[in-house]
Formats: sequence, C-alpha cells, structure tokens
Amino acid sequence: MKIDIVSVFPEFFEVAQLSLLGKAQDKGILQVQAHNLRDWTHDVHHSVDDTPVGGGAGMVMKAEVWAECLDDLLGLSTSAPTQAQGTSPADATGFTDRQPVLIFPNPSAPLFTQSAASELSQAEHLIFGCGRYEGYDARIPTYYRRQGIQTREYSIGDYILNGGEAAVAVMVEAITRLIPGFMGNPNSIIEESYTGDESLLEYRQYTRPSSWRGIEVPSILTSGDHGKVDRFRRDESLELTSRIRPDLIEHLDCNRLDIKDKNK
Ligand code: ADE
Repeated sequence: MKIDIVSVFPEFFEVAQLSLLGKAQDKGILQVQAHNLRDWTHDVHHSVDDTPVGGGAGMVMKAEVWAECLDDLLGLSTSAPTQAQGTSPADATGFTDRQPVLIFPNPSAPLFTQSAASELSQAEHLIFGCGRYEGYDARIPTYYRRQGIQTREYSIGDYILNGGEAAVAVMVEAITRLIPGFMGNPNSIIEESYTGDESLLEYRQYTRPSSWRGIEVPSILTSGDHGKVDRFRRDESLELTSRIRPDLIEHLDCNRLDIKDKNK
C-alpha cells in the first residue's frame, strides 16, 4: 500500500518510520510519504489559507493550493480534468482497490470505524489531506467526487483537535495494521474489540503471576479447559460491552452468538 499525507506540518509524520509502521516499510509492504502543502504555493508567504466567505472567526484552507497538490498526487493532468487517469468512475458504495482513495479528517463527518479501517486496508493507494485552522474549503471534496475519485471524510471522535494530523495518524495506524503481513502474529487482530461479526469490546487479559499484590487472575483462565475459557471470555465481552458501550449491544445479532456458542 502507498500512503501520501499532505500537511503543513509534515514532520508530524516522522513517527511513521518507527515501530511496526517502520518495519512494514522496510519489508516493502507499505510506503508512507508526507508532503508539505506549502510546496504547492506560489506566493512569497507560501500562504495556504484565507478568511471565511460570509465572515466568522479563523481562516479556511484554500481550494486552489489543495487542488494543485492533490492533482499532482492523483496523477491528474490539469489539461484533462474530467476523469482520473487509469481509474473508473467511483460507485456510491465501494471502491475498486486499484483506485486511489482521498481521505480528509473532519470533525463534522461520519465516524471512522473499524469497518472503515478494514475496507480501506484493501486499497492500494490512500491520500490523506490534513486540514488546519477552521478547516478546508468544502468544495475540495466535492470537486474530487465529481472527478470520479473515491473521496471520504471522517471524524475520529466527538471532540475537536487543532488540526487533522493527529486524526490522520490514528486512521493510518488503524488501517495499516490490517494489511496482510503487517502484524508479526496475524491472530492478534482477530479477537479484538470492534472486530468480527459481533463488534463486542474485548475481554480483559492477564499474564503471570496468577496472584499479584492480592489480586487474583480469574481461576477459570488457569483451569486448562479451553471451552470454559472461551465462554468466560465471551460472557466478559458481553458484560463489558453492555456496561461501557450499550450502543454496540443494540446492533448485536443474538442468533449468531447462540450458533457460535453451540459450535464450540
Ligand atoms: N479535526 C479536528 N478535530 C477532528 C476530529 N475529531 N476528527 C477528525 N478530524 C478532526
């Protein structure tokens, strides 16, 4: 997978060279490149923003600068602006994995979820645009959708950050760890919270010693009975989810749980 990230603070993404993200790049399964939006400006001040039309506080990132940058990264020639080269028009629901996908973090957009991460982990090329100040000119995503480019906007949660960089770092980490070959042990992503059919919170984990500072590991976990351990963990997931995230339980298909339990 190739990931381009556009920001006025490209240094923010030096962390992408560390840890598992860095290793994935060494292995050749991932390439992450951060670009400075100001490299696409033409004025002496390298300005990327302007005052909001209609008035109000703060500044808004300019469409012209973003478009020059994104056209370059998308391989769109300005002389043929109607269709991305080598791509087919996007349909309303999915994307063909060869198409680049353009992603903008935006606190007013739909929530970024594990299922979005899973879908995007199948793409070959992601381009993230980090907004700053009061955000970016709303015509930018509209324009690229009209060009047939798969364009997504996501919020990472109900709070306001100073800019899109931290949100992009979160999305990149959630997406890339699902790329085949990224994790040393592929099983570690199977039983996680928000994953699989049920989207339950994950059960609690312990390691040795079984007694520590007067707190015991639940005895079932040391019983060696795998069936009982599985059921204990399933019950704990259900209890945690109903207490901490009742909204997730509302979407739970109990028939599927029963079938899974019977098959154990
Ligand atoms: N930019 C500022 N806050 C954000 C949020 N919560 N999610 C995505 N982008 C943002």
